[in-house]
Amino acid sequence: MQADSPLLDRQTEFLLHWAMEAVPVPIMIVDATATFRCWNRACERMLGIGAEHVLRRSIEEREGFNVHALWLDYLRWVFYDDRKSIQAHFENAQPVKSVPGAWQATIQLPCGDDIRDVELYAAPIRNGSGEFLGVFQTIRDLRERKKLIDQLLHAQKMETLGTLVAGVAHEINNPVNLLLYNIPLFEKLWQDVLPVLAGRVLPGETHRYAGLPVAFLQENMPALLSDMKFAVERIARIVSGLKSYSRFGDPSEKKPFSLNEAVENALRLAQTTIRGRRIVSRVELADDLPPLVGSLHSIEQVVLNLIVNAVQAIDHSQGRIDIRTDVRSDGYMVLTVADNGKGIDPSIAPRIFDPFVTDKQDKGGTGLGLSVSYNIVRAHGGTVRFRSQPSAGTMFQVLFPVGERKPIRRILVVDDDPLIRDLLSDVLISNRSCTVEEAASGIEACIRLGAFHPDLLVIDLFMPEMNGLEVCRIIRNDPEFRELRILVITGHSSHASLDEIRRMQRTDVLFKPFDIQEFLKKVDKILSE
Ligand SMILES: Nc1ncnc2c1ncn2[C@@H]1O[C@H](COP(=O)(O)OP(=O)(O)OP(=O)(O)O)[C@@H](O)[C@H]1O
Ligand SMILES: [Mg+2]
Repeated sequence: MQADSPLLDRQTEFLLHWAMEAVPVPIMIVDATATFRCWNRACERMLGIGAEHVLRRSIEEREGFNVHALWLDYLRWVFYDDRKSIQAHFENAQPVKSVPGAWQATIQLPCGDDIRDVELYAAPIRNGSGEFLGVFQTIRDLRERKKLIDQLLHAQKMETLGTLVAGVAHEINNPVNLLLYNIPLFEKLWQDVLPVLAGRVLPGETHRYAGLPVAFLQENMPALLSDMKFAVERIARIVSGLKSYSRFGDPSEKKPFSLNEAVENALRLAQTTIRGRRIVSRVELADDLPPLVGSLHSIEQVVLNLIVNAVQAIDHSQGRIDIRTDVRSDGYMVLTVADNGKGIDPSIAPRIFDPFVTDKQDKGGTGLGLSVSYNIVRAHGGTVRFRSQPSAGTMFQVLFPVGERKPIRRILVVDDDPLIRDLLSDVLISNRSCTVEEAASGIEACIRLGAFHPDLLVIDLFMPEMNGLEVCRIIRNDPEFRELRILVITGHSSHASLDEIRRMQRTDVLFKPFDIQEFLKKVDKILSE
């Protein structure tokens, strides 16, 4: 991009340049000599054509600037107002009423190796006396908008389906209840009637009722009735599950309920999804959970979403899903759903709780499951977090504060060995209420300190480039980090640098090898001081 008009002072020119480069919308400006004067970075990205091929070249110059004929035609049209020759291409072009001379058209444009539906907007640039200086133009990719509209329609369909399911479940409920009450009555009746029927049969005679011999009925009828009872109970369970699933979580509902009950109900609903797949599910529910207050049905929905996601993520035949509830000593009640599936795609992991983020478009996924779940959990005063590794699995945790709420601690883990870094982070996240960030070197640690402001820094002593001691020195000399606690981890118990570290304030050392409990105890002790 260039904006070197003598009309602009250098500072304005710089600001304009910066703004054009920073804006994520493709913008181009062609001047009155039909020469490109601006081709911002978003333009380069979208069209796959570097600014160096375009700037200061006339739109007629094709050499080195591989642009589609339509594109040139379009510019000619906007530029010379040569509408007739290209009208065929831009049947849908519309003047923009609010801006004199501006046009908007939806066209197909070559973007790199792709042809995309885009919306072009072009407006003439004129100076104060109305003199024509050039054309300002933006391009809008319509794919995202189309995708959002499709997803919205799909979500609306799902909502309608939810209402339908609720209606059907309600209708089935009454007949199912009828069966549920009457089958036990029949069982009792059968016990009373059986001796009467048997007494009517004379020795040596084979009397039949409903075509079946009395001896057969005597032997099999109790089992038939109990199978019927079992089947009806199953229908009742499914209906009750569907009813609670389709009912949208009412934040005004504030009744005490057990997290375990929500898990059990969700598990029942999930059985149809789990069954038939080679997945072993292990459930460990703590029996001393305090009650949660809110909507049981909404929390069921959260658990169900997590379980279904876990099932869908398992793409091999040795699937495992662990579901656990417990109360931790730090005052949080935790639900954990962990799987050994394919892991969350790193490209979507940062947006996982946003609506419509999904990798299951082709399988009917809406990408709403986690966003709805997140909102429900937040409405109950809790939070959701996850940890995932490609090809290894994912662990989601839902945390609800119980009793006294303790502040969530921030911990920065620094180690050049990714295995140790991940292990320590995992252990902290799974066992303590804390937010963890990681850094792979001393330099990265220093960069993150300012933005993350941790309460505790867990740092390896020996790392290439900048080691743990150097980082500690920087921190202890910076008043901004006076309160920051440091835990230095090292396998060398008698290294010279340890003396210096031991003399530092609020700095502890833990020697490798250590076991995880020892590590957690040390972290707790440091943070409670
Ligand atoms: N346990 C998991 N393992 C791997 N990826 C997961 C897991 N849970 C969620 N994801 C990823 O997060 C995305 C969003 O999940 P979310 O539940 O919000 O929507 P969805 O499952 O795609 O659609 P829907 O819930 O409407 O069926 C999923 O598409 C998937 O890519
Ligand atoms: Mg889902």
